[in-house]
Amino acid sequence: MPHVIHPMRKEDIPQVSEIDREAFPNQWPPPNYKNELQNQIARYIVACEEGAAVAPERAKDASCIIYRLLPWLKSYPSSPAPQPEPYIVGFAGIWVLADEAHVTNIAVRKSCQRRGVGELLLIYLIDLAQKLKNTNLTLEVRASNTAAQSLYRKYGFIEMGVRRAYYLDNREDAVIMSTENIHTDSYQAFYRQMKEAYALRWDNQLPVS
Ligand SMILES: CC(C)(COP(=O)(O)OP(=O)(O)OC[C@H]1O[C@@H](n2cnc3c(N)ncnc32)[C@H](O)[C@@H]1OP(=O)(O)O)[C@@H](O)C(=O)NCCC(=O)NCCS
Repeated sequence: MPHVIHPMRKEDIPQVSEIDREAFPNQWPPPNYKNELQNQIARYIVACEEGAAVAPERAKDASCIIYRLLPWLKSYPSSPAPQPEPYIVGFAGIWVLADEAHVTNIAVRKSCQRRGVGELLLIYLIDLAQKLKNTNLTLEVRASNTAAQSLYRKYGFIEMGVRRAYYLDNREDAVIMSTENIHTDSYQAFYRQMKEAYALRWDNQLPVS
């Protein structure tokens, strides 16, 4: 099923938090996405399944039920029909630190993994970093997280070093990874190829950067 990306909104936070808890059960303190949406240096995106939706919270709201039960009451103020919320399958974010985009998070629902969603999110983060004129992207990843490391390597991230005992839950090391300058001709050519290959493999139109 094709996936679409949009900037994270406050309505997305319940689903994002659910995905976050599933992906990072031991993280403490848990990230506060409400604050993150107000953070000037943060940019978050979500991946949604095209055409899929979850019931909006508003539908459970008693006032909505009254509006639906009394459509014949012409004098009653009309209410907009509740819109279904998109089904979010993953999310990702960066912090813009000087000329660098620091990837804070990228996570995909377990049931939706290995379908190109993580890669799509990373492509959008790289596009975003290019638009924001960041020179490169950096991140920390658990030493044991070979799946994520493989995703980052695929997009040209290389290991820059290790932060010993960086993660508080189990004192695991973090591997620091970074891209080269994403505006160089060589990275641009490589990245274009990667996007073309992605679009072909997953039959998903990508924005031209
Ligand atoms: C890492 C993660 C985001 C990947 O998302 P995904 O949607 O499953 O990944 P994709 O299907 O887009 O795969 C893209 C690439 O990632 C790598 N990859 C993803 N899952 C992998 C796995 N289980 N084993 C090895 N490589 C894997 C591969 O390089 C893959 O490319 P390929 O399909 O050509 O082999 C997902 O596993 C996840 O949410 N993990 C938990 C949260 C997490 O660890 N986030 C990273 C924090 S730094």
